[in-house]
Amino acid sequence: MQDYRTAVEDLYREAAQNAQSKLCCTLTPPWKLPGLSVPPDMLAKNYGCGTTVHPRDLAGVEKVLYVGVGAGLEALQLSYFVRKAGGVLGVDTVPEMLETAGGLLQQAAQVNDWFDPSFVSLKKGDALDLPVEDESIDLAAQNCLFNIFSRAHLAKALSEMHRVLKPHGKLVLSDPVATRPVPPHLAEDPRLRAECLSGALLLPEYLDAMVAAGFGTIEVRARRPYRVLDKERYQLNEHLLLETVEVVAIKDAIPEDGPCVFTGRAAIYVGKDERFDDGKGHVLERDLPMGICDKTAVALLALGKADLMITDSTWHYSGDGCC
Ligand SMILES: C[S@@+](CC[C@H](N)C(=O)[O-])C[C@H]1O[C@@H](n2cnc3c(N)ncnc32)[C@H](O)[C@@H]1O
Repeated sequence: MQDYRTAVEDLYREAAQNAQSKLCCTLTPPWKLPGLSVPPDMLAKNYGCGTTVHPRDLAGVEKVLYVGVGAGLEALQLSYFVRKAGGVLGVDTVPEMLETAGGLLQQAAQVNDWFDPSFVSLKKGDALDLPVEDESIDLAAQNCLFNIFSRAHLAKALSEMHRVLKPHGKLVLSDPVATRPVPPHLAEDPRLRAECLSGALLLPEYLDAMVAAGFGTIEVRARRPYRVLDKERYQLNEHLLLETVEVVAIKDAIPEDGPCVFTGRAAIYVGKDERFDDGKGHVLERDLPMGICDKTAVALLALGKADLMITDSTWHYSGDGCC
């Protein structure tokens, strides 16, 4: 593959200076939070393709790493929850982007009483060689960057995230994925990759890359339409739908029988007893749904029990339990 990294630097240098209205834009509305005002230029230079800000992940988090900080929108949103000096470290390879983020965070301080610019530190650094100590981060995030990487660079970037996270720390990702393989004439086009249009992997490949980096628990939080690579413009036999996903990879050990990948499936027991115990750690109270990982869904389906319903993936897993 041609070296796409020069195209990436060129595109984001330009995008730091002049807002690109179509770059990465999606159906996901930016967070509106009480007391949070976002400078208009920061919003216009939001190049995320989903969100990595999930309030449920942020209780008790003291140190966040944000890789590919862009103009700083999500760094600001994450600092809303962390609220301490140096609580969020934003890293980017493009000096102009860091300069833009720095200026916009200063503007944010003018319009948000709770925000101090010291809450977000900015550093020049590369996702492939993070300027961060081992096991020092509670939560790491990247939005619409890793899809640009070649498979080898994706593996390196994920292993860097794994290295810097504390045990059980979370990596929150938002990226496009493809509904069928992107053909080489598009995947190898450096400009299309930089625009987050042709580097996308299939969802199972994307999740497998996280497991290969050592993440033992994976949660798919959202899955939405993103773009169509249409057959005329992109010389394809059929239109190719890209989706965008929000995924959390947790630095848990990988169980011997494989990773736990949660895609929103549930098990519901409706038998004669008060509860059903599969003897492997899953105790289902009658009538109450329990979120299960895909591996457990397959195992429970194999029991062939008529009083046990296993639902399909919703692609909207955010934990389970009502009490
Ligand atoms: C698509 S933009 C996303 C920006 C930001 N995450 C957002 O949601 O608005 C990708 C960002 O990653 C930065 N970037 C590109 N290559 C990088 C690398 N190897 N390491 C760190 N940042 C990189 C770009 O400069 C750009 O700011």
